Amino acid sequence: MADLSVFQHPRFARMYERISAESEQRGTAERRDATLAGLAGRVIEVGAGNGLNFTHYPEKVTEVVAVEPEDRLRALAEQAATTVSVPIRVVAGHAGALPAEDGTFDAAVTSLVLCSVADVPAALAEIRRVLRPGGELRFFEHVRSANPAFGLLQDALTPVWSRAGGGCHLNRDTAAAIRAAGFDLQSLDRVYYAPLRFVPPHAHILGRARLPR
Ligand SMILES: C[S@@+](CC[C@H](N)C(=O)[O-])C[C@H]1O[C@@H](n2cnc3c(N)ncnc32)[C@H](O)[C@@H]1O
Repeated sequence: MADLSVFQHPRFARMYERISAESEQRGTAERRDATLAGLAGRVIEVGAGNGLNFTHYPEKVTEVVAVEPEDRLRALAEQAATTVSVPIRVVAGHAGALPAEDGTFDAAVTSLVLCSVADVPAALAEIRRVLRPGGELRFFEHVRSANPAFGLLQDALTPVWSRAGGGCHLNRDTAAAIRAAGFDLQSLDRVYYAPLRFVPPHAHILGRARLPR
């Protein structure tokens, strides 16, 4: 089994458990629905956290393998998996070495994760490896602002934010990273909202990208 000690952030995990309830009510839950709509077959979710996507998977999904490296969040995800009808197997692991065979999934999901993964190109290469040809990536991520001044503020805040936020970066261009990894972007919506009272509205992207067949 992979050494997951570097991914343990118990303070962040406790905070995420608390604040995510507010975030769901302020618009995150509806973005999860939009991100996962129409999925079918075998799905791998990378960085599943406490399992907040689980109630949003459509019935046609036959299995979700939910990979989560952080112990506390993974335990919460295991509980969440028992409350839904879609079969969900929660497993320990991380994006840089997904515990899955090559080409065995119809779709992969990342939500609010590529901001935290240390090596985004390596994570996307792993997602490519486990998807079948023509497989799909569904993503929902917060990203760097297109407003230059706000983007610079995000650059400045990221080092401190990242320490408190389990490695989260405020300033990533995740759509460019997905394209650079060889996915064809099929849809990309940019939405602005404030998932928490104490943060200003900021940019999120959600969409679909496909591998060549
Ligand atoms: C902000 S939480 C989001 C959780 C969940 N995806 C959601 O939508 O609520 C970020 C998650 O990414 C996970 N994470 C961080 N680095 C990771 C990596 N390299 N591989 C997989 N998951 C990672 C964290 O443990 C945490 O669960």
